[in-house]
Amino acid sequence: MTIKRIAITTGGGDAPGLNAVIRAVTLAAISRGWECVGIRSGFDGILHPEDFPDGGMLPLDANAVRGIAHTGGTILGTTNRGNPFSYEQEMPDGSVERQDISHRLIDGFQEHRIDALVAIGGDGSMGIANQVANLGITVVGVPKTIDNDLEGTVATFGFDTAVSYATDAIGRLHATAQSHRRVMIVEMMGRHAGWIALEAGLAGSADVILIPEIPFDLRKVAEKVKQRNSRKRFFTIVAVAEGAMPVGGAEMYQDAGGVKKLGGIGEYVAEGLRPLVENEVRTVVLGHLLRGGSPTARDRLLSFRFGAAAIRALDEGQRNVMVGLDPPTVRYVPLAQCTKNIKLVPGDCDTIKTARDLGTCFGD
Ligand code: F6P
Repeated sequence: MTIKRIAITTGGGDAPGLNAVIRAVTLAAISRGWECVGIRSGFDGILHPEDFPDGGMLPLDANAVRGIAHTGGTILGTTNRGNPFSYEQEMPDGSVERQDISHRLIDGFQEHRIDALVAIGGDGSMGIANQVANLGITVVGVPKTIDNDLEGTVATFGFDTAVSYATDAIGRLHATAQSHRRVMIVEMMGRHAGWIALEAGLAGSADVILIPEIPFDLRKVAEKVKQRNSRKRFFTIVAVAEGAMPVGGAEMYQDAGGVKKLGGIGEYVAEGLRPLVENEVRTVVLGHLLRGGSPTARDRLLSFRFGAAAIRALDEGQRNVMVGLDPPTVRYVPLAQCTKNIKLVPGDCDTIKTARDLGTCFGD
């Protein structure tokens, strides 16, 4: 099929670099003589056009994507509640039911004369993209998430920015922790994977790193604090991934307005440590700060490479693949293959070995 017009969607949680991908996809498409259009807020621009003043579709040309590569967020908007295969529909009695309204999406693609879709998102969005592809739409996925937990790619864009910010935050905590002889616990996002806490923890010289892949024992953490105190290092920095859990325990969730979200492990660690150590123990939660701000140069570069590769993939006749970083190249991975599992930190990876060699405690 000859491509004349493509659509871009950004789904799930935002990540720095989304706008850079939108720019790269648009410019690479235009250079081939293709038209480009952005779907507002995941697929909502098609499913609920009445919710958007511009009808839910944003025409993308060189002007529309000028000066956006360095900005955070997404000019299209995003949602993690817009799965067309399980869409929250309000019933006449006020109750909410989940329904498959994907046929409306397919009709919308026809109505807007969309020949192919570039879907930018994390594992949830790639799963939806794969389902959309199974309905006969030509799809290319672009892996996005600060968590870096997608299979099929060595890195996702957004991750480097999150790690840089978290590393900076840990650096700032060193001086205040040292001044007050405190244990400072820094909780950071990452979902069920410990990539952000591991890399920021190591780069920021945290003394303890707690990640979901290595269940921790608080007594080991307390030992580390005491050992440091005995060496006249009266402060300790603990980097903890939001998905970390104690041995025999489970991930911790908090209520976020009726929705359960990972969180609270930092304070759990603090409370558990207080009776075991003499230092004052305090917690900082980095939360969504990791998702904000301008993408780092590395993330912008990766975003550009992924965006351009997505268009090359379509031009080369590739269908239903995700672009993935496989240094020094970007390769195409079948969508179905990258949505089976999430990518966790291997316990024997070099970064963990390095941290252990440098004396970092993992609570095990
Ligand atoms: O997947 C990205 C991420 O930021 C996770 O690290 C975090 O658990 C989740 O999204 C938070 O989602 P929300 O913005 O919906 O609270």
